[in-house]
Amino acid sequence: MESAVTAAYDVSAEFYDVLQERRDHARARDRFGAAARRARTGVIDVGAGTGIVADVLVRATTAPVHAIEPADAMRAFLLDRLAGMAPRDRARVTVHPCPAQDFRLHRSADLAVAANVVQCLSPEDRRATWRALAEALVPGGLLLFDPPPESLERPGQWRLPPVHAGEDVYSAHVTSTPEDGVQRLHYTYRVHRAGTLVREEHEAFTVWPASRATVTAELEDAGFTPVRPPHRDVRAAVLRA
Ligand SMILES: C[S@@+](CC[C@H](N)C(=O)[O-])C[C@H]1O[C@@H](n2cnc3c(N)ncnc32)[C@H](O)[C@@H]1O
Repeated sequence: MESAVTAAYDVSAEFYDVLQERRDHARARDRFGAAARRARTGVIDVGAGTGIVADVLVRATTAPVHAIEPADAMRAFLLDRLAGMAPRDRARVTVHPCPAQDFRLHRSADLAVAANVVQCLSPEDRRATWRALAEALVPGGLLLFDPPPESLERPGQWRLPPVHAGEDVYSAHVTSTPEDGVQRLHYTYRVHRAGTLVREEHEAFTVWPASRATVTAELEDAGFTPVRPPHRDVRAAVLRA
């Protein structure tokens, strides 16, 4: 039977790259490119999705890359992206089809990147993920992640910029609602052709907010020391020796 994690993104995977790749690839280069260029032992991409960030990491480093992605639909796009890489790059990337909290690697990487994923983890899974990464990194290894929202947010909505693809226009409308201590994001994807709606799909996600102090305490418990990040939109921590 499919678990909630493996079945998540069943709808969104199809729309992910068309709507987000250009923006997220540029962001990943800004946020993680320099650290990846310095990595020598190995690089972990936590929640690799369709591989937008993995693509940046693989291009920036010559070290082995470990891409963790539990959702079947996202992993299919990830593997397709990897298949299109030069053979010597493809040969350096190992795909781990498990949740990050179940990831088992020992002292095999000096950089771990978690882009747009920490907010997808429940507090229990988040803490287990820090522990798994502490085990996987070498002492002095760097963890970079974009932080979850600090607290629940008022109901809101926004749109992803529409994208033209052939005769079609792809768009997404997102509503965000606080519910029982978590934030629920409802995505509505639409495809219009000549101004007429031809498809509409829906998927909802849970986001777990966590205060900066909570995340700091969790990182310290797992053996990390928070350090100055290389970019204002990410947090950074180093694994203590
Ligand atoms: C918003 S997407 C971000 C994908 C990618 N990091 C990027 O920035 O393009 C979040 C990804 O995290 C994955 N994810 C969710 N829960 C996870 C977990 N417990 N462990 C690892 N990955 C997880 C999802 O399957 C999804 O692919």
